[in-house]
Amino acid sequence: MSLSPPHTMQAIEITSPGDPEVLQPTEVTVPVPTHGQILIKVAYAGVNRPDALQRAGLYAPPPTASPLPGLEASGVVAAVGPGASRWKVGDMVTALLPGGGYAEYAKCHEDHALPIPDGLTLREAACLPETCFTVWSNIAIRGGLVAGERFLVHGGSSGIGTTAIQMARAMGARVFTTAGSAEKCAACLALGAERAINYHDEDFVPILKAEGGAHVILDMVGGSYLPRNIKALADEGRLVQIAFLQGSKVELNFAEVMMRRLTITGSTLRPQSDYAKARYARHLLKHVWPMVARGTLRPVIDSEFSLADAAKAHWRLESSGHIGKIVLKVAG
Ligand SMILES: NC(=O)c1ccc[n+]([C@@H]2O[C@H](COP(=O)([O-])OP(=O)(O)OC[C@H]3O[C@@H](n4cnc5c(N)ncnc54)[C@H](OP(=O)(O)O)[C@@H]3O)[C@@H](O)[C@H]2O)c1
Repeated sequence: MSLSPPHTMQAIEITSPGDPEVLQPTEVTVPVPTHGQILIKVAYAGVNRPDALQRAGLYAPPPTASPLPGLEASGVVAAVGPGASRWKVGDMVTALLPGGGYAEYAKCHEDHALPIPDGLTLREAACLPETCFTVWSNIAIRGGLVAGERFLVHGGSSGIGTTAIQMARAMGARVFTTAGSAEKCAACLALGAERAINYHDEDFVPILKAEGGAHVILDMVGGSYLPRNIKALADEGRLVQIAFLQGSKVELNFAEVMMRRLTITGSTLRPQSDYAKARYARHLLKHVWPMVARGTLRPVIDSEFSLADAAKAHWRLESSGHIGKIVLKVAG
């Protein structure tokens, strides 16, 4: 069954690895959903740092994924592939995509789509999947964060950071964060962080140690932060690495990991199996969508650009002036 999608559509392609100008409008064939998949007529698509890495040639899509950028989108189900039974044509969804979100139509596994949370617009809902799947799977499942624990997230004003602050707070954790300016720190405090540390002026290590250390740290910085994160952890603490903006090779004394029973772990979302992503989606529906419906977790949207202006959206992302998410309006 389908809404009779057209044969071709507008999309944004990466013409060659490079700066944001390599993102160019193009006309391509509308994808056809295969077994267990749905096709979404995209209303809004979220912009994420991994899109910029892919654009620069540093994060190749999995072989089976669309080469077009875009890891999340909201919209209406336009067609249902064979064997897919969860959604019907006309349903409003927001979905984690393996790629291809910067387009008028995108397809995904039916179990990676979620309903629009109560009270949210399609624009807001488009900004949830990539950060919610990433943050939940890393702080709750991998990091084992529980109520009452101290949680530190670096880059608190990022799309990931603004989600992590609110989610950890809603889970009952005490939230600490780092960010690069007074304005960004103020935004983190407004979202529920108990302490926002401007990393240009202050060292997060003694601040966390004075509190007894962090039980869970979510880090995207790496580099010089790696040994400092180890120092900032409480005994039995968990360090969860989701990126290495400052590099992944450092000299580290692992004795502390042994003596203080620390855990160092991490993950990337995109290469994980359909099964793993479907499991995360079930967790989000059960644990995180109610936070959104209650208003304790809301996407923070920095700015909106049209699909044709995807290059401008990436310039904004790379300026690091943004607080929260950047979204592309595709239709609607
Ligand atoms: N592993 C995964 O599955 C996964 C999934 C999604 C995203 N990610 C990663 O998570 C990170 C955030 O993604 P995003 O889409 O939310 O991107 P984003 O909004 O561009 O966030 C990048 C953030 O890093 C901060 N930062 C840079 N250097 C820092 C430092 N020394 N200390 C503290 N913060 C620092 C920046 O803040 P300032 O400009 O203020 O420094 C900025 O807020 C990216 O590295 C991305 O690749 C990983």
